[in-house]
Amino acid sequence: MPEQCLIALADRDASAVQSLEALSASLSVPLLPAQQSPQNFCQFLLFYENARLCLRSTAEGAPGAVCVDFDNNSLQYRQRHHTQPEALLKAAAVKQSYMTRVLDATAGFGLDAYLFAAAGSVVTLCERSKILHAMLEDGIRRASNSEEALVRQTVARMHLHSGDSLTLMQGHWQERPEIVYLDPMFPERKKKSAKVKKNMFLLQQLLHGEEDAPGLLVQALELAVKRVVVKRPRHAPFLEGRAPGFSLEGKSSRFDVYPIANSAS
Ligand SMILES: C[S@@+](CC[C@H](N)C(=O)[O-])C[C@H]1O[C@@H](n2cnc3c(N)ncnc32)[C@H](O)[C@@H]1O
Repeated sequence: MPEQCLIALADRDASAVQSLEALSASLSVPLLPAQQSPQNFCQFLLFYENARLCLRSTAEGAPGAVCVDFDNNSLQYRQRHHTQPEALLKAAAVKQSYMTRVLDATAGFGLDAYLFAAAGSVVTLCERSKILHAMLEDGIRRASNSEEALVRQTVARMHLHSGDSLTLMQGHWQERPEIVYLDPMFPERKKKSAKVKKNMFLLQQLLHGEEDAPGLLVQALELAVKRVVVKRPRHAPFLEGRAPGFSLEGKSSRFDVYPIANSAS
């Protein structure tokens, strides 16, 4: 039976070997035996390319590798030219002039968290997959050293947490988040859609069978001060069967908004 994921020692430089060995130990992901073809050993491969931690599927015809990259031109363009306000930000009602406290309880590749932070929010990202967490950590570290001040300032508002967000939400909060954001995994469609982007396709394969903890929405509603926002595929049923106060349609998704009773907004 092949391993689910292995770490490749692409770089034989002694310091790179040391850091990959440390990563292997912290993630409990074994190293690919030297000079072996990954296809025979694992379904996914983690490796460094151009100093970025990348993940790819070893299946034939699989899309290319992905990494967490906040320091890229299209994201910066999106951040600088708000021609169309992001549906996500409208759903959460975040304002650039106010540092909204957001908990992104399903961080994934951190793109939505970055959009919140780019709009001035202070974001706690929680991710329970150790592999995704390591990729996020790597992306945030690289973006903190970006030549672009805007990128450095944005990631400085992003605080990464490893573990199950259900546990995090149940813990003690000095200041509760005003917004809790949920974008749980949704079972892959029978018909492969071109709209399922490369990184989401890979995520669906990697985390296949990992159920989202039931009760995420209930716990989010307990914790959020102002509202809970849930991202769903356009025609998906409501999360945990619970109808929102209202919904906003994005380009390919729907944002279900659950305002908290007695809050100011
Ligand atoms: C669809 S992805 C989120 C994508 C993300 N919004 C983005 O912009 O990249 C869902 C992620 O939530 C994580 N997740 C699911 N349930 C979780 C939980 N209970 N605690 C922490 N992370 C969870 C999964 O591991 C997965 O990485």
